[in-house]
Amino acid sequence: MNKINIAVLGFGNVGSGTIKILNMNKVKIEAKTGCEINVKNIFVKDINKEREVAVSKDILTSNIDLILEDPSISIIVELLGGVEPALSYIKRALICGKNVVTANKQVIATYGNELRKLAKENNVLLKYEASVAGGIPILGLLSESLSGNEFNEITGIINGTTNFILTKMTEKGMDYDIALKDAQALGFAEADPSSDVLGEDVAYKLSILAKVGFNFDISPKDIPTEGINKISKDDIEYALEFGYKIKLLATIIKTGNQIECHVRPTFIPISHPLASVSNEYNALLIKGNAVSDIMVYGKGAGSMATGSAVVGDIIDIIIKGDCKKLFDVSKQTNDTKTINSYNSSNASPSILNFIGEGESMFYMNMIVSDSPGVMGKISTCLGNHEISIDSVIQRSSAIRNDGFVSVVYIVHKCSRTSIQDALKEIANYDFVKEIKSIIPVSPLN
Ligand code: HSE
Repeated sequence: MNKINIAVLGFGNVGSGTIKILNMNKVKIEAKTGCEINVKNIFVKDINKEREVAVSKDILTSNIDLILEDPSISIIVELLGGVEPALSYIKRALICGKNVVTANKQVIATYGNELRKLAKENNVLLKYEASVAGGIPILGLLSESLSGNEFNEITGIINGTTNFILTKMTEKGMDYDIALKDAQALGFAEADPSSDVLGEDVAYKLSILAKVGFNFDISPKDIPTEGINKISKDDIEYALEFGYKIKLLATIIKTGNQIECHVRPTFIPISHPLASVSNEYNALLIKGNAVSDIMVYGKGAGSMATGSAVVGDIIDIIIKGDCKKLFDVSKQTNDTKTINSYNSSNASPSILNFIGEGESMFYMNMIVSDSPGVMGKISTCLGNHEISIDSVIQRSSAIRNDGFVSVVYIVHKCSRTSIQDALKEIANYDFVKEIKSIIPVSPLN
């Protein structure tokens, strides 16, 4: 049987899962590819560290040149995370004519175009299924199985940590801080959880989805992004009272030549298919103009789930690449290979009008004094800004120790700018202590 040499950069969580799967499913993988996959090297910082998965110490190295300059290694699997040195290693691998698999959302979201171009110029494949939603094969779906569709919308829960925290707040009535600590204790949230809770992790993934699903280039830093760190137990309780759950949604909506793309905690109706996605699970709802609605659900993180996507990409490269060339990259020519669609689409990027966040319904929670005329003044101000009220709640049980009270409104569809303008005026009234939350609301159908 022919042998394909690969090298794995990084032997952490995902690296361990990848090696485990290659061992566990060796027979099936060999039958599918017709090749033996030989992990010739694993790049690590510390060769002597205890490892979760047993491998021969001989294959561990902290010398990257040994790997990148080895002509017998044809696939580099980058699982280091972070921008550097991962980005430099990926570039060098592509330039050396090696195929690359990566789980690195930050690198692909920020440098994807440059890397795709390098891959194309060097006639190799670059695959990154594991960079979005871990084990859920969303990029393969969008670029292959569903590629006959124009997509109108992709909405997803694509961060397990924040979904876990929101689930605990909803189901167990936990405060945000306690739920975060629980997520950290169980290993879902990192010691520094900021990338997850501030929504940055989701913005990286959304940028990749915009490229693969819509051929639309948007830098993660240009995506309007809000995390869950300001969501309070009150917001969760009011949401439930109105018939909603709060989920951190990544959304892309294309309407004609307009595209909106944002990361927002959002009220979604309890009957919405994404509302039942709990704990660390991820799910995406895709609206295609031929297939209609499709939902995919699964583990968006974790060693084995993410490893599953990585191994799938390795197998795909072996099948789609030219196997004979993979046996020894030093003998590669510039012949055209069968190229995977999301690796190197020939289409120019879509010229779409980016509108950030479109109109929606909104929930607002304001802390005000419990005196006559307060509701009237707020409602008049909203009306002056053409904002129409859908529902209002003020409970006598919500009177706080300081005598102020929470008043919550859900308003009909309007722009965030008009809400912000109205709230700026409302905040100036002397009966207002604080505007606590403004959260978009997906309508009850
Ligand atoms: N930190 C991410 C999550 C997984 O919680 O979903 C890696 O992207």
